[in-house]
Amino acid sequence: MKLIIVVTVAVIFRLASAQSVYSLASTIPWTPKAPSSVDQSLVYNDTYYLADRSNAGVHVISLADTTNSKLITGFTTGIVNGSISSSISGPDGLVVLPSRNELWVGDGDGTVKIIDLFGSSIAATINTTSSKRADELAYDPTNDIVVATNPNENPPYVSVMSAANRTLLGRINFSDASGLEQPAFNPADGLFYISVPISKANPGGAISTLNIANMSIAKTYPLPDCVPAGIVFGPTNALFIACSASQITEFGYAASYILDVSMGKLVANISGLAGSDQVAYSPSSGLFFAAAYQNMINGTVPQPQVAVVNASSGKLVQTFATDNVTAHAVAVDDKSGLMIVPIMKQGIVTYSFMAGAGGNGTSASGTTSGSATATSSGTTSTKTSATLKNFTAQVLGVFLIASITAIFAL
Ligand SMILES: *[C@@H]1O[C@H](CO)[C@@H](O)[C@H](O)[C@H]1NC(C)=O
Ligand SMILES: *[C@@H]1O[C@H](CO)[C@@H](O)[C@H](O)[C@H]1NC(C)=O
Ligand SMILES: *[C@@H]1O[C@H](CO)[C@@H](O)[C@H](O)[C@H]1NC(C)=O
Ligand SMILES: *[C@@H]1O[C@H](CO)[C@@H](O)[C@H](O)[C@H]1NC(C)=O
Ligand SMILES: *[C@@H]1O[C@H](CO)[C@@H](O)[C@H](O)[C@H]1NC(C)=O
Ligand SMILES: *[C@@H]1O[C@H](CO)[C@@H](O)[C@H](O)[C@H]1NC(C)=O
Ligand SMILES: *[C@@H]1O[C@H](CO)[C@@H](O)[C@H](O)[C@H]1NC(C)=O
Ligand SMILES: *[C@@H]1O[C@H](CO)[C@@H](O)[C@H](O)[C@H]1NC(C)=O
Ligand SMILES: *[C@@H]1O[C@H](CO)[C@@H](O)[C@H](O)[C@H]1NC(C)=O
Ligand SMILES: *[C@@H]1O[C@H](CO)[C@@H](O)[C@H](O)[C@H]1NC(C)=O
Ligand SMILES: *[C@@H]1O[C@H](CO)[C@@H](O)[C@H](O)[C@H]1NC(C)=O
Ligand SMILES: *[C@@H]1O[C@H](CO)[C@@H](O)[C@H](O)[C@H]1NC(C)=O
Repeated sequence: MKLIIVVTVAVIFRLASAQSVYSLASTIPWTPKAPSSVDQSLVYNDTYYLADRSNAGVHVISLADTTNSKLITGFTTGIVNGSISSSISGPDGLVVLPSRNELWVGDGDGTVKIIDLFGSSIAATINTTSSKRADELAYDPTNDIVVATNPNENPPYVSVMSAANRTLLGRINFSDASGLEQPAFNPADGLFYISVPISKANPGGAISTLNIANMSIAKTYPLPDCVPAGIVFGPTNALFIACSASQITEFGYAASYILDVSMGKLVANISGLAGSDQVAYSPSSGLFFAAAYQNMINGTVPQPQVAVVNASSGKLVQTFATDNVTAHAVAVDDKSGLMIVPIMKQGIVTYSFMAGAGGNGTSASGTTSGSATATSSGTTSTKTSATLKNFTAQVLGVFLIASITAIFAL
């Protein structure tokens, strides 16, 4: 009798508090070895690609047959004092050109390598004239232009390339900035947007647009203390901006934002979420994903996680514990909803999507096995901004309520 009450109350509590949409699906073991340094990932045509600096190659993993894995090699490794230096090593950023079936990859020697996806090998190389990495990339399919950031140069700059003839068209200096982060192309206005973590004019960072016609910075949107890293477009003109760990250490709080670029206004504040690198968006589910590998609680306690954010409400839907090493990449397969995160001690971990808000109601628990422990935000049903709750708190909450109920029932 007591057990039934405890279990019933626990189930009711979970269904009422958690709006989980993902659960652990599978783990693909590392090959040839577990990396200590990776960069970006993406999904194209049911295939997952991950830039792995430790293995100096791009993993190619069929999501239909998750045990089959291939590594495209030919990238540069730069060792400084015995460890891989990310500023001179690749592969780094990735972007697919669907019309050409090409994967463009930033490399540690300042080149962009063009992989032919049918041949699974490097077909061409473009030198961005740097001896340090060409980092993150974005693609404008209308004008067939690819941009790459060169964040480790002084000044940092954006390289502009023609996809049609595989040449460097020019560069745009960010004389005022230290470092550059993710570029993103907005199909709604045909502009590239660049995440500028820190500049003299905007110490909390900014988002700048480019004028490709005359190779200049067009417009700059200053951000409130953010030090942005990953950015991605979601619903029309909605730019998800992931703030980095520097926001927590320098400004004392964690928050990420959604910027409506048509109004130049922040329309959502995802409180408690920072320390991210790569972000992703799935149009079919309307969800943003943030690889918050350097997130912290109270500004000090490390809480590496991947976070799922509702793109229309700006609410945190679910978080999963990850690691602070390789889990700064996140990718999603828009077709199946599968979310994929590389975790050093486990492998490439996939999480499956349960259709419908809050799952389909049969399995709303966010708990997973192993060290990929899940936590769920319990605040999605309230009017206040989402705050993070850890798994311990939820379990204790379940136990407390269940115990009280059980005592009263006796
Ligand atoms: C490499 O190690 C030496 C000696 O410990 C140190 O002086 C130097 O700053 C290090 N270089 C880098 C790039 O970290
Ligand atoms: C990807 O899928 C599209 C549409 O089915 C197809 O035309 C294209 O050849 C595929 N590309 C690769 C590299 O598999
Ligand atoms: C790229 O160009 C720069 C400057 O022209 C040159 O120093 C560098 O060696 C080139 N890199 C490669 C990999 O050819
Ligand atoms: C390459 O294509 C661009 C347009 O995308 C054009 O401006 C440029 O002149 C072309 N360069 C060469 C060498 O054909
Ligand atoms: C960018 O900066 C470099 C280094 O200061 C300089 O040589 C180059 O002329 C600048 N390019 C443009 C287009 O301003
Ligand atoms: C580039 O073009 C825009 C609009 O055509 C103009 O406002 C801007 O001053 C130009 N910038 C440079 C550096 O030429
Ligand atoms: C976002 O929320 C945090 C509190 O969680 C707050 O410190 C920060 O100022 C907010 N940002 C903006 C732009 O209002
Ligand atoms: C964070 O701070 C709050 C308020 O001071 C405290 O109750 C909570 O235990 C702290 N959490 C951690 C993980 O330090
Ligand atoms: C990363 O996490 C490990 C524990 O898993 C911790 O020992 C280490 O200090 C963390 N590193 C950073 C830079 O936060
Ligand atoms: C509900 O989700 C579970 C887990 O993904 C799945 O096995 C089940 O088939 C789904 N049921 C319905 C009715 O969609
Ligand atoms: C996102 O939030 C909206 C309400 O703003 C809701 O209708 C929708 O179902 C939510 N989507 C998910 C996947 O939770
Ligand atoms: C988890 O939550 C409980 C209760 O809110 C808090 O006391 C504890 O410090 C938290 N632990 C971590 C690791 O965040």
